[in-house]
Amino acid sequence: MKALSMRDVRFMYEGSDRWALDGISVEIEKGEFVSVLGSNLSGKSTLCMLTNGLAPHTLKGKMEGRVEVFGKDTSGLSVAELATSVGMVFQEPDSQLFCMSVEEEVAFGPENLAVPRDEIRARVDWALGLVGMRGYNDRSPFSLSGGQKQRVAIAAALSMRPEMLVLDEPAYALDPLGRLELYSVLRELRQDYGMTIVIAERDSEEAIAFSDRIVLMKGGRIVDSGTPKDFAREPNRLRTVGVVPTQLSEISEMLNARIKGGNFQFLRVEEASKAIIENCLASRAGGAR
Ligand SMILES: Nc1ncnc2c1ncn2[C@@H]1O[C@H](COP(=O)(O)OP(=O)(O)O)[C@@H](O)[C@H]1O
Ligand SMILES: [Mg+2]
Repeated sequence: MKALSMRDVRFMYEGSDRWALDGISVEIEKGEFVSVLGSNLSGKSTLCMLTNGLAPHTLKGKMEGRVEVFGKDTSGLSVAELATSVGMVFQEPDSQLFCMSVEEEVAFGPENLAVPRDEIRARVDWALGLVGMRGYNDRSPFSLSGGQKQRVAIAAALSMRPEMLVLDEPAYALDPLGRLELYSVLRELRQDYGMTIVIAERDSEEAIAFSDRIVLMKGGRIVDSGTPKDFAREPNRLRTVGVVPTQLSEISEMLNARIKGGNFQFLRVEEASKAIIENCLASRAGGAR
């Protein structure tokens, strides 16, 4: 059974006359970490909202094709029913936090499912521990930094004990350190709980560093897919959909242009710095001769 399976999915928003998603077929394995990359308006958010039933149940529109989450057809399930399978985290932390305290925020979902009190307390503690926010229970979510808010939003999704987490540009408002922290939490969730992670992004840096597989979207379609290594090797595949390659790809290209026979494809900073130092030494030695 796949974590997510989409077959020939099309979605057109009510009042629009063109497909926002135009024939999406994709399968995601349980425990896989998949990044969906694409420029603005390529269809990433619409795809995310189809995984948890927000489209077409809440967002009105015309849908074709079939979406299955852990073997269940989403058209027959409500957003509430899907919430125990799919946790959703959005771009703007402020738009998804609405309670007076961090604890209430994280307890909100299971409370609505009438989970027993002791169990809720245990889940809140577990979820806050996972995102490194234990001890913030009584704080107002609005007094937190952007990164902390996003971690509380993840904890609120996790307290439903979902099998899959879908995040729509969750790092958008974060600084580089906040992004790294966020992705480290996601990596841990995958490693320790086998959670399936699907993440929409415009930026390639973290997608290349953290995911198992990357799919590229353009004009409501999936136009390419591969491993991070594939895209590090062929950064132009990212450029064709308007995604900027990683800084390491650009450094690789720079060195390859400068060094005769150079064929670098750096995935790690350490590899790049070693090559740069060696290139410096070699050109100095060459100059002294
Ligand atoms: N609420 C909406 N009503 C009508 N069209 C929409 C709505 N939201 C998104 N779209 C359209 O759907 C397409 C895909 O948008 P979206 O899924 O938001 O892409 P992305 O998340 O990659 O920026 C775009 O053409 C966009 O204009
Ligand atoms: Mg979007």
